[in-house]
Amino acid sequence: MKALPDFDMVLFGGTGDLAMRKLLPALYQQVKAGTVSPGSRILAAARKPLSREAFLELAEATCKPFLGAAYDADTWRAFAERVSYFPMDVQNPGSYAPLGEALGQHSDRVRVFYYSTSPDFFATISANLGGAGLISARSRVVVEKPLGHDLDSSREINDAVGEHFAERQIFRIDHYLGKEPVQNLLALRFGNVLFEPLWRREWVQDVQITVAEQLGVEGRGDFYEGTGALRDMLQNHLLQLLCIVAMEPPISSDPDAVRDEKLKVLRSLKPFTPADVVTKTVRGQYKTGAVGSKPVVAYAEEPGVASGSRTETFVAVKAEIDTWRWAGVPFFLRTGKRMAEKLAEIVINFRQVPHPIFGEATHGGRANRLIIRMQPDESMRLYLVAKQPGDAMALHPVNLNLDFAESFRDRRLEAYERLLMDAIRGKLTLFVRRDEQEAAWHWVEPILDSWAANEDRPKTYTAGSWGPAASSALLSRDGLAWNEED
Ligand code: BG6
Repeated sequence: MKALPDFDMVLFGGTGDLAMRKLLPALYQQVKAGTVSPGSRILAAARKPLSREAFLELAEATCKPFLGAAYDADTWRAFAERVSYFPMDVQNPGSYAPLGEALGQHSDRVRVFYYSTSPDFFATISANLGGAGLISARSRVVVEKPLGHDLDSSREINDAVGEHFAERQIFRIDHYLGKEPVQNLLALRFGNVLFEPLWRREWVQDVQITVAEQLGVEGRGDFYEGTGALRDMLQNHLLQLLCIVAMEPPISSDPDAVRDEKLKVLRSLKPFTPADVVTKTVRGQYKTGAVGSKPVVAYAEEPGVASGSRTETFVAVKAEIDTWRWAGVPFFLRTGKRMAEKLAEIVINFRQVPHPIFGEATHGGRANRLIIRMQPDESMRLYLVAKQPGDAMALHPVNLNLDFAESFRDRRLEAYERLLMDAIRGKLTLFVRRDEQEAAWHWVEPILDSWAANEDRPKTYTAGSWGPAASSALLSRDGLAWNEED
C-alpha cells in the first residue's frame, strides 16, 4: 500500500460508537500497514472530560475486540503515539482553542475533520471551525449520515456545511460504497467486455438488492423511531448500490465522471404516485420472534419506542429506471432489522434461454444469475448450467466462483478503512455528491409522504423471518420471487 501524505485527522465524537468500532481500528490498521508517517496525528475530540491516557485506555479496551488478531501491543503503542485527546463542548466557540493550537503547528498539511456526531451539530461545528480560522485550503470534512430526514432538512445541513467548505472539500460517506465487492462490481462491469452487452433490458429480467440484518435497533430505539428503514438504509446505501449496478460506463474513473453517471440513474428513477406507493412499496415492523434460535422482543417493546409506533423496521420497494437500457426491468430493493439472516447481496437475474432445446425438466428451469455478496462473506458467483457427467443430457446449475480471495491473498480493507484513506488522499470518487444525495431524497419523499398521510400501520413480520408476506407478493405479482424463495 502506498504511503499516505502527512495528515492531521480530527475525530469529533471521538469517544462514540463509530469512532471506537470503525474509525480508530481503521487508522490502527493503516499504522500497522506502515502507511501512516510518524508525524501524522489523530486528534480525538469529545465531551467526556478525560485525560489523554484515560482516553487511550478506553480506546484500547474498546477497539481490541474489533481488531481481533490484528491487535498487537507494539503496533498499538506506535498508533497511540499519534493520538491526542481534546475534551470540548463543540457548541462553545471558546473550547476550540487547544485544538486550534495543536493544528496550528502544521498549518499546511492535509487536515481531515470527521464529524462522527449527531448531524444536529454539523452546522455549529463548521461555523466554529470557520470562526476559529481552522479551515485551510487543504482541509476536508467527512460527514456521516443521516444528513437530514427529508430533502429540505438535508439541504439545510448541506448549506450550513457548504458555507465553510467547498463541495470538493466535502466527503459524504456511504460506507457501502467502500465495501470490497462493490468495488469489484465496478471492476467486473468496466474492466471486462463480457458483461456490458448483456447488462441491459434485453438480457436482464430483474435485479434484487437485499440488505438484511439480524440485529434489532440495539438500544437506539429513540433514534430509530424518528428514522426507520427507508431513511436509515434505503435512501442511501441501497440506492447507491442500485446506482453502481445501473449506471452507464463513465468516461473515466474521475470522481465527477462516476458521480455524474450515478446522478443520471437517480434522476431516471420513475417517480412514485400515491397509488404506486400502495402497490410498489411494503413497510414492515417486527414482532416477537427468534433470531438464530434466541428469542427477541418486538420492536414495539424496545426501549425508547413509542407505544403504537408506526416506524418501519423493514422496507421493500419495486424501483423502475426510465432509460433505454433499463425500461421494464424491475429493481427490487429490501432491507430490514431482525431478519432471518445477516445477508447483503445483489442478484442479477438474467432471462431464460429463448428456446430450451434440452427441455424444461433437464434444464432445471434455472436461468443465469450473478450474485454479488457483501455479507456474511464477500464473493461474486456466476450461475450457469452445465451438463452433468454421464450418458444422459442432463443439465445442472453450477457456479463460477469469481471470488477474488482465491486469486489475491492481500488483506481486505474494511469499508471505513478504505474510505478514510481516500479522504486523506482527497479522492472523492466513493463519496456522495450533494446533487446525488438530494436526488435520492427527492425520489423517496413521495413514499415518506404517503406513508405519513396513510392511517395504515406497517405490516408485521415475525422477528427472524424474511419480512412480511406482502414482500413476497411484491415480486409474485410479476411472476418473480426473492432469491431465497426461488
Ligand atoms: C448503518 C445503519 O448505516 O448501516 C445501521 O445506520 C445499520 O442501522 C448499518 O446497522 C449496517 O451496516 P453494515 O455494514 O453492518 O451492513
